[in-house]
Amino acid sequence: MAEQELIFVQDLDVHFDIGREGFGKSSARKVRAVDGLTLKIRPGETMGLVGESGCGKSTAGRAILRLVDPTRGRVMFDGQDLSALGPRGLRQMRKRMQIVHQDPYASLNPRMKVKDIVGESLIVHGLAKGRAVAPRVAALLETVGLGTEAMERYPHEFSGGQRQRVGIARALAVEPDFIVLDESISALDVSIQAQIINLLKDLQRDTGVTYLFISHDMAVVRHMSDRVAVMYLGAVVEMGPSESLYASPRHPYTRALLKSVPVPQVTAAGKPTLEGIKGELASPMEVHKGCRFCNRCPLVQDICRQSPPTLDVVTPGHFAACHFSDRLATAA
Ligand SMILES: Nc1ncnc2c1ncn2[C@@H]1O[C@H](COP(=O)(O)OP(=O)(O)OP(=O)(O)O)[C@@H](O)[C@H]1O
Ligand code: SF4
Ligand SMILES: [Mg+2]
Repeated sequence: MAEQELIFVQDLDVHFDIGREGFGKSSARKVRAVDGLTLKIRPGETMGLVGESGCGKSTAGRAILRLVDPTRGRVMFDGQDLSALGPRGLRQMRKRMQIVHQDPYASLNPRMKVKDIVGESLIVHGLAKGRAVAPRVAALLETVGLGTEAMERYPHEFSGGQRQRVGIARALAVEPDFIVLDESISALDVSIQAQIINLLKDLQRDTGVTYLFISHDMAVVRHMSDRVAVMYLGAVVEMGPSESLYASPRHPYTRALLKSVPVPQVTAAGKPTLEGIKGELASPMEVHKGCRFCNRCPLVQDICRQSPPTLDVVTPGHFAACHFSDRLATAA
């Protein structure tokens, strides 16, 4: 029998209303940040989520944690539909789900000492109080490789890597089952990135925690993830075990992303673009009749503009949404 997933995201849309255009045609404009996202994440695994800037990764991560309300679709967490939970149920559930952002500095109160930042998490969720808080904080800091002297210090007194460790300690305080790591190591030097990756992997081995690892860096995602989902304009276009997806990408977009490793090209307008495919990410305000990648795809045919490809199995456990994914099976 297939293993029960911890998270099941089903047909999820997050559309942001951004007002009306002009005076005449008063049609409401929407950004389709997440647009038909389906994803399963198994307990104890790391699911990588990759894609260009603006493709909806952060919005997807936030919607899974219900930090933003979906327009349509649902998120099941450990068999429970999050949209069916009231405020109390959601609060209970939040204890099991955490997020670590790219810039912990922005999310760590600069006027609070580390002992209070991490301790607050314990107190708010009723996991410790009074004199029990400090030893728990010390133990959490030790877990993330910081000494107890860190407790009396403020966020600005730390390096970027150390601050990220504080962010991770705060997330770990509630002993979550699931952590969204949203570009959590992207701002760090490569050697510090490696240290944090090792820390995250050690924590996973010791606690069984599940990660959604969001990044635009294909190389780092490969290193970190058991499985990888590639997102394009709000939806998954390819998904599979890291090994298989990297060795034999079956969607033209994934191939382009892999070709662009390590450094994306930059257009005159200063926007990163991808070597190997033309153009920039289409507007997330468009409604797609056919394949959402058709205006950039080197393999595009008439059928691509008419009918949207579905996410189909290409090899066991590996899925791609492309009418011509079989052509890529043997392509170099
Ligand atoms: N609150 C919001 N209101 C309106 N549009 C939004 C909002 N949040 C995100 N968007 C838009 O939704 C789209 C997806 O944004 P999102 O931040 O999820 O992408 P991303 O893949 O995380 O990008 P990056 O790699 O730059 O972090 C973008 O076009 C963005 O401008
Ligand atoms: S369906 Fe067509 S346009 Fe879309 S990725 Fe495949 S070949 Fe390209
Ligand atoms: Mg983002």
